[in-house]
Amino acid sequence: MSTHKAATRKTTIDIRALKGAGRLVSLTAYSAPMAKLVDPYVDVIVVGDSVGMVLYGMPSTLGVTLDMMIAHGKAVVRASGSACVVIDLPFATYQESPAQAFRSAARLLAETDAQAVKLEGGVEMAETVRFLCERGVPVMAHIGLMPQQANAMGGFKAQGIDERSAQRIFDAALAMEQAGAFCVVIEGTAEALAKRITEVLQVPTIGIGASPACDGQVLVAEDMLGAFSAYTPRFVKQYAETNAVMEDAIRQYADEVRSGAFPESKHCFAYGKPLAISGNDVLRTAATLPV
Ligand code: KIV
Repeated sequence: MSTHKAATRKTTIDIRALKGAGRLVSLTAYSAPMAKLVDPYVDVIVVGDSVGMVLYGMPSTLGVTLDMMIAHGKAVVRASGSACVVIDLPFATYQESPAQAFRSAARLLAETDAQAVKLEGGVEMAETVRFLCERGVPVMAHIGLMPQQANAMGGFKAQGIDERSAQRIFDAALAMEQAGAFCVVIEGTAEALAKRITEVLQVPTIGIGASPACDGQVLVAEDMLGAFSAYTPRFVKQYAETNAVMEDAIRQYADEVRSGAFPESKHCFAYGKPLAISGNDVLRTAATLPV
């Protein structure tokens, strides 16, 4: 099973080659059920450190650990078969030195079987990206609004809207490509700058709040599904309101348990008859009733 999956899965080389060949589609996934849902429709699944805010209720991504990313990465790789899987290096697992970054990235790739790592940073991270790429670790770079640097950036604010910051982001994009990144995520960045970067780079850009000028788009799956309501950035389009659907179902379940309408006889097992919990279960015969 896993050999078959590895043979058909998109690689970072495939993703890089998609520059200029149409729009790249990407979504995040943190779990096996979500990975299974998105896999047939996307080129890249990002196991983002946004998992900390979306699934764990953290106020930022800073508390996410390497072990968390490995656990979620394993689930996503296991449940997907065609998309290229990229896992975020969480805060403080790569910024210290290229050697620290390599140790963290090696664990992510070796323990999950993912195709690449993603890291946030500007020109100062170029040496690290080069170090990783030269040692067989494909890197997706993340520039512009960098959630791991929200404290230094004064919060989650759009980037590249003045000349100085635009130059810094442009330089970061070039440095990341020159260092070997196979793809660059541009987050929360002014459209004209994202467009210029996309025109200049030979590798694809994937935008999140960075306009249709990018080579592709990524969103946090829970954001576009309306399954995460704590914080919705302006750049998100909600394609569904799954929270409302889930809440309705939960309310109905609670009402039916309280009224006795659930469970019905079809949800129960008859005494003295073979019991099958589900289609896959071995049939068992009911034991004698205790006296
Ligand atoms: O952490 C994350 O989910 C991300 C994606 C938005 C790309 O970085």
